[in-house]
Amino acid sequence: MINPGQLVMLLSPKGKRYFKILDPQEILNTNDGQLQMQKVMENGFGSRLDTHLGKTYTVLKPTLYDLIKSVKRRTQIIYHKDIGYIVIKLGIGPGSRVIESGSGSGALTTALAWFVGDQGRVYSFERREEFATLCMDNLNRNGLGSRVEIINRDIAQGFDLKGVDALFLDVRTPWDYLEHIPDALLPGGPVGFLLPTVNQVSMLLTAMEQGHFTSVEVLEILVRRYKPVAERLRPEDRMVAHTGYLVFARLSPKHLVLPLEDETEDSGDEVESF
Ligand SMILES: C[S@@+](CC[C@H](N)C(=O)[O-])C[C@H]1O[C@@H](n2cnc3c(N)ncnc32)[C@H](O)[C@@H]1O
Repeated sequence: MINPGQLVMLLSPKGKRYFKILDPQEILNTNDGQLQMQKVMENGFGSRLDTHLGKTYTVLKPTLYDLIKSVKRRTQIIYHKDIGYIVIKLGIGPGSRVIESGSGSGALTTALAWFVGDQGRVYSFERREEFATLCMDNLNRNGLGSRVEIINRDIAQGFDLKGVDALFLDVRTPWDYLEHIPDALLPGGPVGFLLPTVNQVSMLLTAMEQGHFTSVEVLEILVRRYKPVAERLRPEDRMVAHTGYLVFARLSPKHLVLPLEDETEDSGDEVESF
């Protein structure tokens, strides 16, 4: 049994995913015929149901991975592998208030909205109206829209917010907007950027050296998938070799310089018990 209002994923025989906020009155029109949502509700997650044309669909509870994969794209999006590290580095969790720009298609926004929960808030700045609308449509389809405020304006005008917990920029020239970050972010708060080229990373680092930031880190994340065949286990022939570079820092708390993190160290040596 699935509760009305819960998000369900219906997987077609060909692997097409349909996402629906469950309304038992609804009849879903698919490429393979009609599915009664009343039956989806009664049969529950993991069940298999036939459309009126006899095609079998599987009812699943979607993961965040599924939701991001289903985002309708009209811009470059941030990939799952990068999003995972971004939310950890920014400390996004239930109740977080976070700024991001630009919204684009809303892949990162979807993840931020998922993690901040009903008590948190995502402020997503987007200067192009069509992408602001696209992002909100993608969020509403998954029932996450109520956690997000899309602000349709250029961040050159600043953020008009105070004391947010974290801030992330996925825009072409983030160095143009660094001056607005201290007004919006909690002192010492985490900030992150995604940039597709090393030239942009250099420009950003040069701008960051002018002040406001500490604990600066630059990295990229590579994922190598394997063919899941037990007797001939080996990597897939192709991989996504490049998506973007990630830059993280903390907004300098007044008078405090945090030491750079060295993730190659065995952190166990540094732990003291009291
Ligand atoms: C690559 S897309 C963002 C993709 C998004 N992070 C995602 O995961 O789907 C970059 C977006 O930033 C927006 N943008 C660029 N400069 C901006 C600015 N100064 N203020 C607001 N939005 C901006 C662009 O219009 C574009 O939609």
